[in-house]
Amino acid sequence: MPEKLPFVVRKYEVRSEKISAPVKFVFLTDFHDKEFDAGNARLIREIHAISPDAVLVGGDMVVSMHAKEESDDWLRRSRHLLEELRKDFPVFAALGNHEAALADEKRGIPACFEAYCGMLDDVGVTRLENSSADFRGIRIHGLAPDRIYYKKLRYRRLDKTVITTLLGDAPKEVFSLLLAHHPRFFAAYAAWGADLTLAGHLHGGMLRIGNRGVISPDPMIFPRYSGGEYHIGNRTMIVSCGLGMHTIPVRICNPPELSVIALLPG
Ligand SMILES: [Fe+2]
Repeated sequence: MPEKLPFVVRKYEVRSEKISAPVKFVFLTDFHDKEFDAGNARLIREIHAISPDAVLVGGDMVVSMHAKEESDDWLRRSRHLLEELRKDFPVFAALGNHEAALADEKRGIPACFEAYCGMLDDVGVTRLENSSADFRGIRIHGLAPDRIYYKKLRYRRLDKTVITTLLGDAPKEVFSLLLAHHPRFFAAYAAWGADLTLAGHLHGGMLRIGNRGVISPDPMIFPRYSGGEYHIGNRTMIVSCGLGMHTIPVRICNPPELSVIALLPG
């Protein structure tokens, strides 16, 4: 009997002429300091069983409200998970709004943001903070926009020029995989040139009815991109329902998600 996991594994396939050989990623996002079992043993075991070429982290590994300068307990579970994964896989990590909240000079705890980045460096994770890295012929970009784009009300609309300012132009010949935590701006990611965008942030919309999430953190009822696969022309966005939660610990008909992304020639 296969082991009953406390999360679902959702598999996606994306084909592109720009892909010359198959590449398999595990995409985890919105971990939010989660502990499914002691040491997250089943999560780590499942990722090993999937045997990806690399692990991609979509941001919000931590809960910013848990962060304290005097103790690193808020960082312990993230560190352990990433340490275990780094033993066997390359890991690329983008940042989410919780990490951006820590970095905020006025309202955040910059020392904790530095501790988070230091942890990634110690563990050997490639941090993608408005930067890019090449992996097996794919360019992986990590977008870390200003916090204003995450505002719940009266947020600023993110457009293509913001992405170009932060990341430069998307390469034309190389497959661009964009880690962009917030799915709201898919049109901008597609216009910029991301062949595939991986996002999270909405935790699947807390309650899912059919294939739709009911509420976003904004809050918006039935947000357009709450979980699953979306297309604009030949651009794709996959939105994971994420692994964790915080503040309002509710997930109904919305199990935690570990995503597997297979990129295939085609
Ligand atoms: Fe988030």
